[in-house]
Amino acid sequence: MTTKTVQQWTTVQDGLENLTRDTAPMPTPGPDEVLVKIHAVSLNYRDTEVCMGLYGHHKAIDAGGPQPLVPCSDMCGTVIAVGENLEIVHKVGDRVVSVFNYTHRTGHAREVDMSVGLGLPLPGVLQTYRVFPSVGLMPAPSYLSDIEACCLPIASITAWMAINGMRPLGQPGGKGEVVLLQGTGGVSVAGLQIAKASGATTVVTSSSDDKLEVAKKMGGDYLINYKTTPRWADAVMEKTGGHGADIIFENGGASTLRQSFDAIAFGGIINCIGYLGGKTNTVSEGDDMTGINVLALRRNMTLRGILNGPRDRFEEMLAFYNEKKIHPVVNRIFSFNQSKEAIQYLFGGQHFGKVVIQVSAEATLPTTKSTE
Ligand SMILES: NC(=O)c1ccc[n+]([C@@H]2O[C@H](COP(=O)([O-])OP(=O)(O)OC[C@H]3O[C@@H](n4cnc5c(N)ncnc54)[C@H](OP(=O)(O)O)[C@@H]3O)[C@@H](O)[C@H]2O)c1
Repeated sequence: MTTKTVQQWTTVQDGLENLTRDTAPMPTPGPDEVLVKIHAVSLNYRDTEVCMGLYGHHKAIDAGGPQPLVPCSDMCGTVIAVGENLEIVHKVGDRVVSVFNYTHRTGHAREVDMSVGLGLPLPGVLQTYRVFPSVGLMPAPSYLSDIEACCLPIASITAWMAINGMRPLGQPGGKGEVVLLQGTGGVSVAGLQIAKASGATTVVTSSSDDKLEVAKKMGGDYLINYKTTPRWADAVMEKTGGHGADIIFENGGASTLRQSFDAIAFGGIINCIGYLGGKTNTVSEGDDMTGINVLALRRNMTLRGILNGPRDRFEEMLAFYNEKKIHPVVNRIFSFNQSKEAIQYLFGGQHFGKVVIQVSAEATLPTTKSTE
């Protein structure tokens, strides 16, 4: 290899507009390490929080002060060189995707897993080359382009866990269940695809009728605009004949959780995934102050926190994607030079599905139409 330097973007966690571009020396893979040429990076809401210095809700993560950090966690690339004694074999030329918390191999995530997150606290993937431990990589599905495959690590596995994480490994389900997806960002759209491929009935909420139209074309069954229908939980109950949702992708947090309790089916699961509507509870005059314990027992439901997913579930999910030939939905592709604009675009919330940065000219492109 003739390239001597790595091109990278860094943040000191002081705002989306302050990302800077610089270079670093080309790393060499040590024992059990793999050097990857990065072709494509997909963005997650978390990346915007990291760049703004707002990702502080995990005790195990020391935000690290003002040292420059390469953000982002999700990439697809090609193996360029390998070190000695790989625990998980990757060969030069293999296409691979990153694993967000590489120590999380099975069961529940632990504090140690939080402390190896890519793009905080570890250096991320918004760079042209990076060394990974062998267990920090998974094979990229051969039927997907690089631009599509880089969308899998956080959004798809989170959606997979929301639908299947409570079922025994190897026995994915969802057939006949009602799955409610809040919003049309990366996690929800992956959830819509997985739910439809599993035979579930889906309810999609969105701020936009145009986005709901796209969700409908993807097979979304019941569509609710939460801006024009502020009591969207009532609409969920009405559209499902009083049953409610068996599985809820709870993405709004403070702004949506109370209504999720009104939209849940008996025996259902509210998956606490996001906090797009805030991380702290607020109380206004006239608010129903029924305790969470009572809301939970009232419909015999489970309130469950999601922390991405382990390696064995990632493998389970890849087998399902491969069987069903699911193509992650890419909304817009930015160039590496436009990385700052890409992160600002994601934060603006206009997208449907995933926002991707094409890092290398060699990245393979999707054959499916974007949702831009
Ligand atoms: N726990 C985990 O393991 C995990 C993993 C991944 C993501 N997350 C979290 O999950 C959330 C979604 O992540 P993402 O990467 O999918 O984000 P994203 O792609 O940026 O999705 C944003 C979309 O969510 C919708 N939205 C915005 N505010 C909302 C609100 N108050 N209520 C309902 N929907 C709202 C909007 O869609 P519409 O315009 O259609 O309404 C917006 O376009 C974030 O909070 C993220 O940090 C958690």
